[in-house]
Formats: sequence, structure tokens, C-alpha cells
Amino acid sequence: MLKKYYKKIDQKKILEINKNSTKKFPNFCDTIINIDWTKILYNRISFILSAIQKFKNCEYLEIGCASNICFNSIPLINKIGVDPENGGNIKDTSDNFFKNNKKNFDIIFIDGLHQYEQCRKDIINSLKVLNENGFIFLHDMIPRSWVEENIPRLQKVWSGDVWKVGLELIKTEGLDFFIIIADHGVGVIKKKEKKITYHDDYKNTKNLKFKDFLNLNEKIKYVDPKQAFELIASS
Ligand SMILES: C[S@@+](CC[C@H](N)C(=O)[O-])C[C@H]1O[C@@H](n2cnc3c(N)ncnc32)[C@H](O)[C@@H]1O
Repeated sequence: MLKKYYKKIDQKKILEINKNSTKKFPNFCDTIINIDWTKILYNRISFILSAIQKFKNCEYLEIGCASNICFNSIPLINKIGVDPENGGNIKDTSDNFFKNNKKNFDIIFIDGLHQYEQCRKDIINSLKVLNENGFIFLHDMIPRSWVEENIPRLQKVWSGDVWKVGLELIKTEGLDFFIIIADHGVGVIKKKEKKITYHDDYKNTKNLKFKDFLNLNEKIKYVDPKQAFELIASS
């Protein structure tokens, strides 16, 4: 599904994207995913709002709030936003929050530290406190270039390597999972059973690079925004 967007660009151009990247990074790759997110209608907030409508007195949690662009758009009085730096209403890391938390949620938006290890921890913790039929949304699931994916971060627009959780989520039983082609890739998890065991493939996944993403993403279900609204409404 993403293959149609692949485009080879020459090495010089890639290095222009990031002036500091003159060293050869192990992640280096001359293929990009040529999607202009500004040309695709809808963003993470639209999809989260479409899910919120399904719940009476929806309990909402956001991990990573920054300048509250999303958090302040959520039309709920009782909402929790966790961020150790900026935004939300609990100034702490997600790990500490989950250690102390006693609440359950209908919708959790995970958009904190964009590293695979942290994101999978946030998902595992979230699945424990997500109500049956609840949703988890994940941001930045489609990195478009090795620079956008690289750990450590090289530039402002950064998806990191959170895409790797998709490889484990497609093998996790008791949930539906798909990624919306909009706003840097919005992952959607629908929890269909009370107790979910996250499929652990950490050993085989942790060292994957952007070039592996280009080969492996065909295993994932990608949908356009219209299909996403239908799937969220009907699930
Ligand atoms: C991409 S921004 C969030 C944007 C916001 N969700 C939105 O949609 O507008 C990522 C945020 O995650 C926060 N963050 C980093 N590490 C975190 C952690 N361990 N727990 C929670 N938040 C974290 C950062 O401080 C930053 O503000």
C-alpha cells in the first residue's frame, strides 16, 4: 500500500535534508516515502474525535501533550494529559503515571517519547487500563525517510522508530489494528477482549532500520481517512 509512494533520491539531496548528516549513519537509505502530509485532509484529532463520539462520558488519556494542540481540542472536562515537560495536566513521565494510576480509560492517545522501547511500554501499560471496546491512537507511524526515523533524533520533523510496534501489534490477539495514511501515520488499536497479551518480538525488532520499514510495511493494514472513519464507527 505504501510502495506506490516510494521514490529514490540521490545521496546529495538526502544529505541536504540534514546538514549534519555527513557521517555515514547505519540507517542511511536513498529511498523516501513521498507523501506530503499537508495535502491529505484530516489529522489525528479528527480520528480521535470520531472515536470519542462512541462513548458516553468518555475517559480520555493523552501521553505526551507538548503545546496542547490536541489536548485542548478534546471536548471533555475529565481528561488527563501526561507530559514531563509541557502541556497536559500531570507533569510526569508516562512510566511514573502508570505506576500510580488507578483509573481506566476509553481512549488513550500515545504520543510521548518517539522511541520503540518507550512506545511499546506505553502500549503495554495502556492495554491494562483500557476498557474493553476502547481505542488507543498512536502518532507518527509512517516515517518518510531515514532522517525522519533515525535514533537519535536529527531534525525537528521526527517520527522516530515507533513504527516497529506495528510488527508486534499485527501478531497480538484480541485487538484490531490499522494505520491511517494521514498526519504522519495514525495507528489505531481497538481492544476487543478484556485481557490482552502484547506479542513480544523485541529481540527481532529492536535493531531494525528505516530500510527494513520499507520492506516490512506490506504486512500492515493501511487505510485512507474515509475508510478509517467507517472502521472506527462500525467497530
Ligand atoms: C510530539 S509531542 C506531543 C504532541 C501532542 N500530542 C499533539 O498531538 O499535539 C511529544 C511530547 O512527548 C513528551 N514526552 C517525552 N518523553 C515522555 C515520557 N516519557 N512520558 C510522557 N511524555 C513524554 C515530550 O515532552 C513532548 O512534549
